[in-house]
Amino acid sequence: MPAFKTVRGMRDFLPKDAERMRHVEQISRELAQLYGYGEVITPVVESYDLLAAKTGEEIRERMYAFEDFGGRKVALRPEFTASVARLMATKMRNKPKPLRLFSVGSLYRYDEPQFGRFREFWQANYELFGSDKPEADAEILMLTNDLLVRLGLRNFYFKIGHMGILRGILVKEGLGEDQQNSIMQLLDKKRWEEALVIARSAGVSQNCLTTLKKIFEIRGKDVFGVLKRAEEGVQDYEKAVAAVKNLWEILEVVGGSGVELEVMVEAGFARGLEYYTGIVFEPYVSEIEMALSGGGRYDKLIELFGGESIPAVGVAQGIDRIVLAMKKQRVPPRIAGERMVVVVSIEKESRAKAMELSSMLRNAGLAVEVEVMGRSISKALSDADRRGVAYAVIVGPEELKERKVVLRDMKKREQRVVEIKSLCEEIL
Ligand code: HAM
Repeated sequence: MPAFKTVRGMRDFLPKDAERMRHVEQISRELAQLYGYGEVITPVVESYDLLAAKTGEEIRERMYAFEDFGGRKVALRPEFTASVARLMATKMRNKPKPLRLFSVGSLYRYDEPQFGRFREFWQANYELFGSDKPEADAEILMLTNDLLVRLGLRNFYFKIGHMGILRGILVKEGLGEDQQNSIMQLLDKKRWEEALVIARSAGVSQNCLTTLKKIFEIRGKDVFGVLKRAEEGVQDYEKAVAAVKNLWEILEVVGGSGVELEVMVEAGFARGLEYYTGIVFEPYVSEIEMALSGGGRYDKLIELFGGESIPAVGVAQGIDRIVLAMKKQRVPPRIAGERMVVVVSIEKESRAKAMELSSMLRNAGLAVEVEVMGRSISKALSDADRRGVAYAVIVGPEELKERKVVLRDMKKREQRVVEIKSLCEEIL
């Protein structure tokens, strides 16, 4: 037999890494509950046309697309937004708004594997439907900030822009959606010069080129100063001015909320997904050059999928990259051994009792490993010590006669005899 390996771009998660991933997932899920997002579970396989509709050229070209045995063109989902928008346009179209939906799971993109970029990765995704108000955009931003804070990340900042700024300029110059999209794709990759070449060849005015060049340079952490400059820079383009004002309002709500958010406004910031119509943002930490998450407003997607016109804003938290950032910042993992108990019997006769006590402790909510290797007490204890286990319960015949066991605090290296009936309280 060949020595099987994982397929290129795919990974196994061994317990420590799986635990880190699940921890982020768990906190994301708790956050969904705290903010009122109901979970939906949608399929990994969706129709190609749905996923390809507005996802942008880059993702479209990298989809795991194939024909199923029924001759349907399908693909593995590269993101959640299309699936959740499909629900909004169909089964959930009559639900009262606002509607907040959460999803978590694996996504697939045939990206070139490298640090922070995989072909199978995980997102925790939040979508808020039915509101076009700045409060909704602010909620999505603040929720993302909340998640990163709760996970223990430090010194992160949000890169923020607004698709309406660039689109507002290009629309007035008469560029169609496809031409706009090609320019946005290039800007997403910071290929400003090439974007200008395309704009020029599309026949935009000299004023437009000057405005775009100016816009690409307007960025900074002095939020309202930058927005002021952006507004002046685009004054000939009403829709772009409205976009700057919208961003201003959103950031005013965030700023006034008391939540401290480090923001870097970039007037020429674009994201590659084609459905965005309003604010777009990505959080970064200095230790990693890639965005940890990505989000924005997309007010036209639901109607494109045949539903009513429903405004929407959302974000996908990149679980893999968040875990990488936590490792880089040395955020300690949750200690698996904390409150973990091992139960060891001194001799064969007490092994059933050890099983019984393990069940008792688990029923009290403690994580318990029972010794199954038949090792001596000293070997079992030194193994538990090495793994950072908090307590050992040693079950021996002498103590059992008096309905007692030995409880050892592994960190303090102290042990004492305790009554079985009070064992749980002693540990908890
Ligand atoms: P996205 O920017 O394509 O947005 O992805 C969001 C996050 O998913 C990225 O910031 C990154 O952390 C993670 N991610 C994407 N591709 C990979 C990869 N190949 N390997 C590892 N991580 C990756 C979306 O997916 C939008 N649907 C977000 C959204 C939701 N907008 C509105 N609602």
